[in-house]
This record gives sequence, structure tokens and C-alpha cells, in this order.
Amino acid sequence: ELEFFFPTQQTVAVVKPNALSEKENIVKKIEESGFKVSLSKEQQLTKEIAEQLYADHKDSEFFNELTDFMSSGPSLFMVLTREDAVMGWRALMGPTDPEEAKQSQPESLRALFGEDKLKNAVHGSSNVENAAKIIPVVFGEEAIATDNNEDETQQQ
Ligand code: PPS
Repeated sequence: ELEFFFPTQQTVAVVKPNALSEKENIVKKIEESGFKVSLSKEQQLTKEIAEQLYADHKDSEFFNELTDFMSSGPSLFMVLTREDAVMGWRALMGPTDPEEAKQSQPESLRALFGEDKLKNAVHGSSNVENAAKIIPVVFGEEAIATDNNEDETQQQ
């Protein structure tokens, strides 16, 4: 009998400004899916931090619209810890486009709470490297040391 193991990872999950009113429902679904919310912080991003968050998309035609929107109001930032967290969180979010999500994954967060491709309710890191880069920017340098060692969720 074969057993498969996925490494424990951390990813960054963001409840976007348009879905902040649904944060309790979204956090409930995150916890029901086996993620531990290791760090959590509600914050209105500056345009500069929004640009760092979406650095991989800086050449995209919607980079300015996206970073304007993400700095337009408060978002909820979380560090999620779980086995295979990066892919697992992307699966729970569903496809980028909520219309597509409603068709193919009606229980996903973007199907349930997204409005359009921009206001698609939630964001997630595309890989562990991107997550590791943005964690200290949002949570401070001390998060590097604490998010691996703390058992309880920290509200900042
Ligand atoms: S791509 O084209 O595959 O690189 O882009 P994608 O991964 O689908 O989306 C990257 C982020 O861009 C946002 N997005 C848009 N914003 C405005 N207008 C349009 N048409 C649009 N398409 C995609 C989308 O919200 C993605 O951000 P996150 O926060 O990662 O979902």
C-alpha cells in the first residue's frame, strides 16, 4: 500500500475589500478545510504594498486597476498553515473568474462570494516563495520567527 505525503506549507490568503463583510463565513470555510489560521490582520493596503503583492503581474494590462482596488479599502490578511497549503487554498478559492467558478466549482469561495474577475473575493499566493516574501511586508519582520512557532492565532 502506498501512502502519499505533502509537506506542511504556509500560504497567504487575502479576503479582498469587496468580500470583507463575508469574512466570518470565509474564515469558517477555511477552518473547516483543515487550515490553521496562524496569523490574521485586517489592514488597508497602501498602493505600494498592493504593487508588491501583485509584483508578478506588473506587466499586466489590469495591474493598475487591480492595485487601485486592493488599496481602496480594508482587506483581511491571513497566513494559512496546512499540508499542501498553497494548492489547497487555491482549490478552495476556485477559478479566478467567478462566472467560471459557478459553472465548474459552485462550492468554491469565488463562486459563492465573487462578483467579477477583479472583485473575486479572495486572493492566494501562487507559490511558497511569494508567500514568504509578502508575510514580513504585511505582518512585520517578527512574523518570520513567530509564525512557525506559535500555536495560537495571533490577532494583530
Ligand atoms: S493571468 O492572466 O492568468 O496572469 O491572471 P489571473 O491569474 O487570472 O489573474 C491575476 C490577478 O488579476 C486579476 N484579474 C483582473 N483584474 C481586472 N480585470 C481583469 N479582466 C482581470 N483578470 C484578472 C485577478 O483578480 C487576479 O488577482 P487575484 O487576487 O490573484 O485573484
